[in-house]
Amino acid sequence: MKRIVIVGATSGIGLETARLCIREGWRIGAAGRRLEALEALRAEAPEQIEIEPLDITRDDAPERLEKLIERLGGMDIYLHSSGIGSRNTDLRPDIELATLRTNGEGFVRMIVAAFNYVRNHGGGHIAVISSIAGTKGLGSAPAYSATKRMQNTYIDALSQLARMEGYGIRFTDIRPGFVATPLLAKDGHYPMLMPTEKVARRIMQVLRKPRRRVVIDRRYALFVFFWKMIPQWLWERLKIRKEE
Ligand SMILES: NC(=O)c1ccc[n+]([C@@H]2O[C@H](COP(=O)([O-])OP(=O)(O)OC[C@H]3O[C@@H](n4cnc5c(N)ncnc54)[C@H](OP(=O)(O)O)[C@@H]3O)[C@@H](O)[C@H]2O)c1
Repeated sequence: MKRIVIVGATSGIGLETARLCIREGWRIGAAGRRLEALEALRAEAPEQIEIEPLDITRDDAPERLEKLIERLGGMDIYLHSSGIGSRNTDLRPDIELATLRTNGEGFVRMIVAAFNYVRNHGGGHIAVISSIAGTKGLGSAPAYSATKRMQNTYIDALSQLARMEGYGIRFTDIRPGFVATPLLAKDGHYPMLMPTEKVARRIMQVLRKPRRRVVIDRRYALFVFFWKMIPQWLWERLKIRKEE
């Protein structure tokens, strides 16, 4: 039986993964801003779930994470699923800056807290849901794609740090393609949209048997492989528009 903390467990990929963890018999520490959603999740398996409302953009989030871990009786896996994202071709500053605060600053705040906990407790597994959106700068969502690239690089850096210092921490960078969650629902239609349950099932596989990096699914892995080969001069000239 594992003890997993999921930050961003109130909807979408995090919520679905939490449900699969319940079926697995694991103990779950669930966090996110919406208390009602956390309480609804706990009601699904009260004996397996501890909850803590927290906002990763706030300074008190690490303290709240620590309290949650304490109530859970320890943490074997930290899964970071909190994030926001929007198309922003109008380059609205409020959207760009909120994205940086959540996916940049909030992400680092929580990963550092998880890293320090795991380091001080003899090792563990830190998994983050980044995205394939970090592969190249996306004109339709500049802050989103830039923060996802930052997440990829940050995990690479911490993974090297942990090995250098012999901390015994495993890292997994999970990069899904488009998933049918509330994050995308507001922005119209997306191609190759994957059901949340399918993505959560794949995430469970890498939580059981850690891998350093995984693109979900195979079609997207192939897509990313070719995407990376597009030279920047050509990438900038591609007209990538989404149907509204
Ligand atoms: N959907 C996709 O196509 C897709 C593809 C690739 C990667 N991803 C990534 O997957 C992750 C999960 O997204 P999703 O698609 O499952 O979207 P979602 O259903 O909107 O879930 C986002 C989660 O993030 C939490 N969150 C947002 N801001 C937060 C904050 N300030 N503090 C704490 N928690 C916060 C939300 O909880 P509260 O609102 O309760 O705080 C919610 O649980 C994101 O990082 C996203 O970038 C999504």
